[in-house]
Amino acid sequence: MPKWLNDAVFYQIYPQSFYDSNGDGIGDINGIIEKLDYVKELGCNAIWLNPIYDSPFMDAGYDVRNYKLVAPRYGTNDDLVRLFDKAHEKGMKILLDLVPGHTSDTHEWFQKAKKAEKSEVSNRYIFTDSVWEAPPQYRLMCGICERDGNYLVNYFSSQPALNYGFDKVTHPDWQLPCDHPDCLATAEALKDIMRFWLSKGADGFRVDMADSLVKNDDEKYATAKIWRGVREMLDKEFPDAALVAEWCHPQRAINDAGFHMDFYLDHHGNGYSKLFRYDKWGDKAVFNPNGKGDLKSFADEYLPQYKLTKNNGYISFMTNNHDMPRISAYHDKQTIKLINAFIFTMPGVPFLYYGDEIGMRYQKGLVSKEGGFSRTGSRTPMQWTSSKNLGFSTNDETYLPVDASADAPTVENQKNDPDSIYRVVTDLIALRHKYDDLKGNGELEFLYDENKIPFAYKRGNLVMYFNPLGTQYEMNTQYSGETVYKIGDAEFADGKIKMQPQSFVMIKI
Ligand code: GLC
Ligand code: CA
Repeated sequence: MPKWLNDAVFYQIYPQSFYDSNGDGIGDINGIIEKLDYVKELGCNAIWLNPIYDSPFMDAGYDVRNYKLVAPRYGTNDDLVRLFDKAHEKGMKILLDLVPGHTSDTHEWFQKAKKAEKSEVSNRYIFTDSVWEAPPQYRLMCGICERDGNYLVNYFSSQPALNYGFDKVTHPDWQLPCDHPDCLATAEALKDIMRFWLSKGADGFRVDMADSLVKNDDEKYATAKIWRGVREMLDKEFPDAALVAEWCHPQRAINDAGFHMDFYLDHHGNGYSKLFRYDKWGDKAVFNPNGKGDLKSFADEYLPQYKLTKNNGYISFMTNNHDMPRISAYHDKQTIKLINAFIFTMPGVPFLYYGDEIGMRYQKGLVSKEGGFSRTGSRTPMQWTSSKNLGFSTNDETYLPVDASADAPTVENQKNDPDSIYRVVTDLIALRHKYDDLKGNGELEFLYDENKIPFAYKRGNLVMYFNPLGTQYEMNTQYSGETVYKIGDAEFADGKIKMQPQSFVMIKI
């Protein structure tokens, strides 16, 4: 287990939208290098970069054409190595995005595999044995290759699934078992890509759709086995490298598959939405001034996973990512502050999505860009200053439109505002670094009273009290002590804490 993870706070950078250093309207690697000090000032000591590989950008780079080449619009491989080096000089780590489940249909493997003529990569993807063979349970692209067969896609139509085999082989004429040499070769090709970047200085990977490798793998044990092999390689060759899964099932990702971290997102019905999101859980989100939130459904889901995985890895809470509307689409400023207080005081390794630290807004109604669709509104350019394009680029056109509202938050105006989200985020991250109790593997004990909101939890000698409600609330507490941090206000008296509406207090007992 890489030791640095215990005190890691990640910043997620969507490269095309962060900072444009050469005035072509698209963010780039040199732009990220220029802003490393900004990220460091936030208190983040690690960065996850969305895909920076050569790609036709049908899915914003999750459709990789060449895993070993930086997309020219972002710079060169040398620029990326320079980013690793600069980050390391500043004591920061960089994780790349690894897309193991599929490539672009323009990848040279696929270009070769779709030909009629057989080659060493004919089984790198999953083709049926004839174009007339198209079982409806698989997402297949039919009748478009020279080769007589249909191929399986993993996400969009331009993303053919890589072949790691089938756990349950139901169509032996074209489905290979996982231990087939050609399926094992796919896993080796994946390790080869990882070694390529790790040996150049990358500090690990965020793994895209990590659970999607083996097909007909209901319990995901066969997929987990492949990741175990990857973990063995890392332990031996790159013991400081970190892997975070987009699996969203910590028990499987951490305990079964050997990931160091797993994102806590809203797949598989986990508790993420129950905390923060209105879209799936209506007004039942815990962080919601109306008080209809259901803390128990979060705790019942999260706590067992936490207990089962805490000795093996970290669950990662995140402010948002590039796949969901920003939380500002649902919540008022005070609630957003409380959400940040929660994310940065829970165990595990937290992730901050670029722009969330200034409360950037989800831009509704944008025309889809590069396969973004409803996600496009969370991918707009970072807002730095009040100058042209809010300081993102000097070009007249930008990757996506910048927030045009008169009161668009920027780093500049948020930094100078004592009441800003920026202040709360940076204060909380600083506290996380200061107190060992707040770090990744520090203890956690929920003190909520029969799963009611408001609620509280204790981490070592620190106790966190949350009142997300729009009304004042008094709750019993056996603890008292020095106030370490607060949002809103609260008073302690006679074994009770009286919390003002939408408030948070951290005390040291
Ligand atoms: C992941 C990525 C998403 C991408 C998809 C397909 O969910 O986060 O952006 O579109 O995988 O690679
Ligand atoms: Ca640029």
